[in-house]
Amino acid sequence: MFYNCDCIAGAGKYLADNSLDLIITDPPYGIGGDKLHKHYNRDESKVIDGYVEVAEKDYPEFSAKWLKEAERALRPGGAIYVVSGYTQLRHILNALAATKLQEVNHLIWKYNFGVYASRKYVSSHYHILYYAKRGGERTFNPNAFYADSEKNAGGGSLNYLDREDVWLINREYKPGKIKNKNELPAALLTKMLLYSSRENDLIGDFFLGSFATAKVALGLNRRACGFEINKNAFDYQMREMAKLRRGELLAGLRAPPPNRLVNKGKPLSATETAAIVENYQEMAASGWSKKSAVEKLSQTYGRGYWSISRMVAASPPPSAGVLFARLAE
Ligand SMILES: C[S@@+](CC[C@H](N)C(=O)[O-])C[C@H]1O[C@@H](n2cnc3c(N)ncnc32)[C@H](O)[C@@H]1O
Repeated sequence: MFYNCDCIAGAGKYLADNSLDLIITDPPYGIGGDKLHKHYNRDESKVIDGYVEVAEKDYPEFSAKWLKEAERALRPGGAIYVVSGYTQLRHILNALAATKLQEVNHLIWKYNFGVYASRKYVSSHYHILYYAKRGGERTFNPNAFYADSEKNAGGGSLNYLDREDVWLINREYKPGKIKNKNELPAALLTKMLLYSSRENDLIGDFFLGSFATAKVALGLNRRACGFEINKNAFDYQMREMAKLRRGELLAGLRAPPPNRLVNKGKPLSATETAAIVENYQEMAASGWSKKSAVEKLSQTYGRGYWSISRMVAASPPPSAGVLFARLAE
């Protein structure tokens, strides 16, 4: 359900309490001068007219009001990602602090082709504030993209790298196509949606713009709803939405291999700890390096590398049995 109206009034009228699983939204930046929206070498005639800004003086109250509605509409455990430039960031942080939402991460999205400046640094990042409503289970799929055991060519964990809080994702340029003044790239939205929601979840966007959040959400077989006050954008994008097929993006997703670290994070019994330590001592005695022994044990026991590493570092000296076997060899 999409509504061509102000999101504060619209949410009050159309969104039930505790009804949304996730909100991904990108409010107007309140920057009057328009600079942050300018793209290098872009043909501005392809940009849909009528983008509605919020005056700088109104920004604190505006942020407080829409975020209060967002908080009310989220289900307990539901999460919100708010994309913000740096100019009005403090007002969004203050408005978030006035809610009962809990901070999960403050992410930085670094994009290509920042706003050029000759006498200062080039502005090439946005902030993404990831918060959650208390009182329920927050959806977070840690293996949405990579299994715990997947490594890059240098041996680094792909899962760890993908979950760092600075994201390098390029903007989309779409030359010759109609676009909104500021469109979030599908790769950025896919990342937030896959980590933080499940199929059929209801995803809200209070500032639809090009409907990018809704389009990717539907493509990933989620449901979507939201508001856009600009009639030009709303009418054009509703026609675009009608061309989409729900779930059509799923086939193009990379399927991570099954996660072999199935016991990661689960409590460890004394018996399992003793078995791991004893295995390690046997491996060390027969010439395994610490790194390869820990890697092997991590796979065998389905536990994280660092948890095994800590365990063996704190382990007592080899038992008499292990020493005897070593001597016998
Ligand atoms: C930064 S853009 C959103 C861009 C969008 N995330 C995308 O990827 O295309 C903000 C949008 O909010 C709309 N807007 C401004 N004030 C609004 C309000 N009170 N209620 C609903 N939409 C509003 C603007 O017209 C603009 O399209």
